[in-house]
Amino acid sequence: MIIAGNFKANHTFATCEAYLAEFASYIDESNADDIYIFPPFTALQAPLDKRIRIGAQNGYPAEKGSYTGEICLEQLSALGIDTILIGHSERRHIIKETQEFIARKFEFFKRNNFTIFYCVGEPIEVRQKGLESVLRYIDDQLENIDLEYPNLIVAYEPVWAIGTGISASLDDIEETHKALREKIAAPLLYGGSVNAANAEGIFASPFVDGVLVGNFSLKADEFSKLLKLSTVRG
Ligand code: 13P
Repeated sequence: MIIAGNFKANHTFATCEAYLAEFASYIDESNADDIYIFPPFTALQAPLDKRIRIGAQNGYPAEKGSYTGEICLEQLSALGIDTILIGHSERRHIIKETQEFIARKFEFFKRNNFTIFYCVGEPIEVRQKGLESVLRYIDDQLENIDLEYPNLIVAYEPVWAIGTGISASLDDIEETHKALREKIAAPLLYGGSVNAANAEGIFASPFVDGVLVGNFSLKADEFSKLLKLSTVRG
């Protein structure tokens, strides 16, 4: 299983440093295949334990230059970062990133061999129309995305399950992942209100290769419970 924590705009450099030190102490008991943490830019730092991989929550698709407020390849590479989240629903819906821009970002970081966590997921009004509508919506989010890219990890994160405390049901997760599996060979993660209570069921599903976790990842002792509950996929 891939276990990934997305801190979003939470934690400072200092609290993240303390987090990573504490989190490292739980790793010997982990059953996860791969562990990723995505801190905010101001907390990007090398982990004490190399088994924790650090990724960026975002990046501007340029080597460097006049992009006020953005972080480019040069800054990420200098920190040893080669993993990035692209297409997260908060960037699609709050920051208003378009599919065209997201695809450009994807191409840029693909060209630079980054491991790309590519996020897709539908809003509630689309889910209410049923699976076919969901798949059509996700298809649009896959436009101009190279699904054959070897360093690709896809995260299915239904917007209505993110930060709400209400995870998608295992049935919803499985039917969606099963359908996505027909066109995506890359690992498929689920994200949306994952916690220690619902993770075991999610990990047991043959259609799920891991989880991308927001709120529940913010405390090292809590998040570490998922490391134990995880199963080895190899
Ligand atoms: P929550 O786990 O807080 O629902 O967030 C999920 C998410 O958006 C991870 O990228």
